[in-house]
Amino acid sequence: MSSPDPRYDRYDRYDRYDRRHFLQGLALGGPLFAVRGAFAEALTETAQTIEGPFYPDRMPLDTDNDLLIINDAITPAVGEVAYLHGRVLSRSGQPVRNATVEIWQVDALGSYVHTRGRDPSGLDPNFQGYGRALTGSTGDYLFRTIVPRPYALYGVTRAPHIHLAVSLNGRRVLTTQVLVRGHPDNATDGVLQGLAPPARATVLADFGRAPGARSGERTARFDVVLGRTAFEGDDGVLRGGMGRSIGTRFWDILKAQGRDTLR
Ligand SMILES: [Fe+2]
Repeated sequence: MSSPDPRYDRYDRYDRYDRRHFLQGLALGGPLFAVRGAFAEALTETAQTIEGPFYPDRMPLDTDNDLLIINDAITPAVGEVAYLHGRVLSRSGQPVRNATVEIWQVDALGSYVHTRGRDPSGLDPNFQGYGRALTGSTGDYLFRTIVPRPYALYGVTRAPHIHLAVSLNGRRVLTTQVLVRGHPDNATDGVLQGLAPPARATVLADFGRAPGARSGERTARFDVVLGRTAFEGDDGVLRGGMGRSIGTRFWDILKAQGRDTLR
């Protein structure tokens, strides 16, 4: 099933069969989800970052955890495949179930789903750009997406990153970003460098090749550690649900400065 656009040809192997396997949770097998032993001490909370202005202003037609394929499309997104996975944990290492994990990122051309987050070179119509996953009893989440790339929008250049938000009980409890450990652009990235050094370590993930993975596929493990008050009710019960985007005044500020059109 070739696409008329040769850029897409190398991804033709991600056909419907492959997607079905992915959705059944077979793509990664067991070892990546091996449960860790007891934690001897409290974990370091994952650092909060700004949300940024590009949380989708209109949701894509598909919001599942496979960002490579929109609904039952045949042509997958352009980009190097990445399995982003991990666990949502309390500071004591307890899994947080029923947490909604959302991610959003630019496509291979540097464009967000957000209608005002588009690179002039265009938009990959096959990239979902946004996805959601609900953690199970082990706190695990999984996305299939692409390795993030750098981008420049509104004169701001960013190192590669995937935005990630966690909600519980209908409330956003963590807004952060996943950056690529070792990427040279990290040294000049304003968001990363704006964090204290110990916090920086909590937003970096290795995008390496998993053992036995198909060529061109990478796997990034990113465990999310929530603060104590972030997810427990007064009765100590952990709850799930998705909160609203916390938004920013970014667009108002930009408009006031007359900078709200691209380039
Ligand atoms: Fe971003």
